[in-house]
Amino acid sequence: MKRMPMIAGNWKMFKTGPQAVDTAAQVSAACRDVTDVQIMIAPAFVSLPLVAATVKDTPVCVGAQNLHFEAQGAFTGEISADMLIAAGAEYVIIGHSERRQYFFETDEMVCRKISAALSGGLKPILCIGETETQRDRGETFLTLDKQVSDGLQGFGPEELQDLVLAYEPVWAIGTGKSASAQQVEEVHQYLRSLLEKQFSFDLAQAIRVLYGGSVKPENINELMRITDVDGALVGGASLDADTFTKIIKFDNTL
Ligand code: PGA
Repeated sequence: MKRMPMIAGNWKMFKTGPQAVDTAAQVSAACRDVTDVQIMIAPAFVSLPLVAATVKDTPVCVGAQNLHFEAQGAFTGEISADMLIAAGAEYVIIGHSERRQYFFETDEMVCRKISAALSGGLKPILCIGETETQRDRGETFLTLDKQVSDGLQGFGPEELQDLVLAYEPVWAIGTGKSASAQQVEEVHQYLRSLLEKQFSFDLAQAIRVLYGGSVKPENINELMRITDVDGALVGGASLDADTFTKIIKFDNTL
């Protein structure tokens, strides 16, 4: 099955509203002819409506970096799926390793967030990945297995059609040290088989599995050549419009 590649930029806690608009305008202008890649930008919450307005009617869409699992309520400082939709978001990143590490998100919370996203009409991008210690101990597959089965517990394949999975080895995020093509290939193949085992062959074939962790113009072609890699979740290299555009326009003739 042919899956439309996706290149997503996670801007984390960078850029004010005007800076976000400026970069988003440059990316959408440079990519206005791109029809074969799903392009997504995830700015800070406060910039969502601004960026959504900037990229309207262009091939770029907008996502959020997090959401709360309740639909509404007395949860000071949190944000709901409905609010994100109203702000123009189509996707939402869930369970990023920085959220798991610094904000103590557990697989159970991730699962509730996936549920909130899907019931609110957002497409979740579920981030999973092992730490360096887990890899060194030979626990990579075990870790991913748990993150996928606990994070997606209770869902049926028909509910997960819009799910995107992002494999982001924690040791490769923001370090400049991308996983090797061989490591990525091995994990992505494993994830595809895991999805098939837990859900169905059809769902495993339909879901896009992105790679994230020090993706840059210099390594995107090699990554995109790997059969089970359907795109990239890009942090640092998505902050600069020219660099991000080079990644979006990877060489897909190979
Ligand atoms: P990086 O971040 O590209 O800066 O390594 C990736 C991510 O956190 O999604």
